[in-house]
Amino acid sequence: MVQVPGPFKTPPSLKLDPKPLAEVPARALSAEGADAGGGAAGGGTAGGGAAGGGTAGGGAAGGGAAGGRPGAAPARPASRRSEIPVFEVMQITDEVARRRHAGHDVVSLCAGEPSARPAPGTLQPAGYTGPLGTTPLREAIAGHYRDWYGVEIDPGRVAVTTGSSGAFQLVFLTAFDQGDRVALVSPGYPAYKNILSALGVEVVEIATGPDTRYQPTPELLEAAARERGDLAGVIVASPANPTGTMLGRAELQALVDWCARHGARFISDEIYHGISYAEPGPDQRGVSAVELHGDAIVINSFSKYWGMTGWRLGWALLPEDLVAPFEALASNFALSPPAPAQELAMRAFSAETYGERDGVVAGFARARALILDAAPALGWGTAAPSDGAFYYYSELGPQLERFGDSSSYARALLEGADVAVVPGGDFDPVAGHRAVRLSFAAGEAAVAEALERIIRFQA
Ligand SMILES: Cc1ncc(COP(=O)(O)O)c(C=O)c1O
Repeated sequence: MVQVPGPFKTPPSLKLDPKPLAEVPARALSAEGADAGGGAAGGGTAGGGAAGGGTAGGGAAGGGAAGGRPGAAPARPASRRSEIPVFEVMQITDEVARRRHAGHDVVSLCAGEPSARPAPGTLQPAGYTGPLGTTPLREAIAGHYRDWYGVEIDPGRVAVTTGSSGAFQLVFLTAFDQGDRVALVSPGYPAYKNILSALGVEVVEIATGPDTRYQPTPELLEAAARERGDLAGVIVASPANPTGTMLGRAELQALVDWCARHGARFISDEIYHGISYAEPGPDQRGVSAVELHGDAIVINSFSKYWGMTGWRLGWALLPEDLVAPFEALASNFALSPPAPAQELAMRAFSAETYGERDGVVAGFARARALILDAAPALGWGTAAPSDGAFYYYSELGPQLERFGDSSSYARALLEGADVAVVPGGDFDPVAGHRAVRLSFAAGEAAVAEALERIIRFQA
């Protein structure tokens, strides 16, 4: 085996024998036991493996966060499908940017992108960044965890993605293989199960209701595993879409511990953190799973609290063992997250921006109060508590007798009163036909107007 010289380190999972990938037994390529030298990953580019520094496997990953492995079942290995060569050019692009940032005069003959950028005023210039995002943004995101949650995160574990949607695809691809079983709750955000299904992962939907505040519990996970078989992962959202319910610290801890004991990956969608209506206190913005266990996978985004949906920017916090496999997939699937969005997002973590966004959340709180106050007049059935996010999810109660199901109700409401609400079927294939979701992200004036129209429509 040839030891690759030069500055670019091959990430551990990519130190392949120089035989074709198909001939290498899949598990032999996993991060463990793959430390013996390595040929050139990524199509044999001379000059060796991929740029490692700061991205693949840098530093005390997993560290900082409280955790370790309570219950200590061995971590699941990364998926077999992530055992592909990293797209080396993207890692070198990252290394070039880092060196330039550090003051080096780097001449890059590396990337396949025109250096003659369009003139400002016609098109805006922007180039690729590293596959896991720019170093300053990854550091800024790590800083956000220090500020909000009091945990130290190695920026090398932060992967910037194309929205949290991009993070789901890459995390699921990295963590799970076809046929693996992953649990999530219903009602829930439909893209989790749809992406998992598209990737050939078996979705284990756990029906929840008001008794568990529409969230999973260790008992529910236990029952699901008994019925369907071992779980490779569990996905949780707090605050959740469509119910808005949140998990307290102890409840989240119990779920994280269950996963650690059973060797399942814990994936925490924290996209609605910061949008909560809880009493002021240390956990008001939401408890991050990474506070509780260093190996939790956290997914977040600039879309909701920061309101940057169209910039398509999110991130994942990865356990150390998944960084290199994730990077291999990201560098091939996405090349890099969008550069202008990353530049803009650097402003997200200032005191001024937090203050502005907290002001927006205060507006959501006022809009939410309008709905809660109007609930008796709406006369619907059981509603979820709406602890956070900007959703009110409610059964329609007596309106079902009149309209049959929530889709018919929503259609009639749109046609009869020009008010659009979402029927619950997408979120819950079993009981969602009885419920609707109202988003109060539209703000107080829109919500007040909609409520008036709905009450008039139902009269
Ligand atoms: C719970 C949840 N997660 C993730 C997303 C995806 O957001 P984005 O891809 O814009 O980050 C949404 C969007 O509505 C959501 O409700």
